[in-house]
Amino acid sequence: MTRVLFVCLGNICRSPAAEAVFRQLAAASGLDVATDSAGTSNWHIGNPPYGPMIRAAAARGYDLSMLRARQFRRADFSDFDLIIGMDSDNIGDIERLRPAGSQTPAARLLDYAPQSGLRDVPDPYYTRDFDGALDLIETASRGLLKSLS
Ligand code: 4NP
Repeated sequence: MTRVLFVCLGNICRSPAAEAVFRQLAAASGLDVATDSAGTSNWHIGNPPYGPMIRAAAARGYDLSMLRARQFRRADFSDFDLIIGMDSDNIGDIERLRPAGSQTPAARLLDYAPQSGLRDVPDPYYTRDFDGALDLIETASRGLLKSLS
């Protein structure tokens, strides 16, 4: 089983969407994964995902409604096999918490979607482009799934 953690800033838009999309794709392909998501900030701890993201994801068949935000923590480096950040700021914040000797890989989600020509998933909390974020998340989740299969 591969344990994958998705990380963004608030854990209410991009990373919960990535968690749900990847979990559904992995289940459909029969890959054995455990998934979770977390935010580098403490701003939304305990909150459900942002309403507009819940609705945009639901329109594509992904249910985000039961997810609750938590903060990324040092124990995640040993609790997961792979940590996936949504943008370069996330990766910087993740790396600042890395315990000495930890070898757990931390990659950007769009490393798995080179065809997108982007490095960072634009934050729809600010851009308001929830469908654009979901398009990128779906494309990269397929690439990530392929890399683990
Ligand atoms: P996320 O988006 O990192 O994709 O969850 C954000 C959500 C909320 C805030 C920032 C980013 N905020 O400033 O509250």
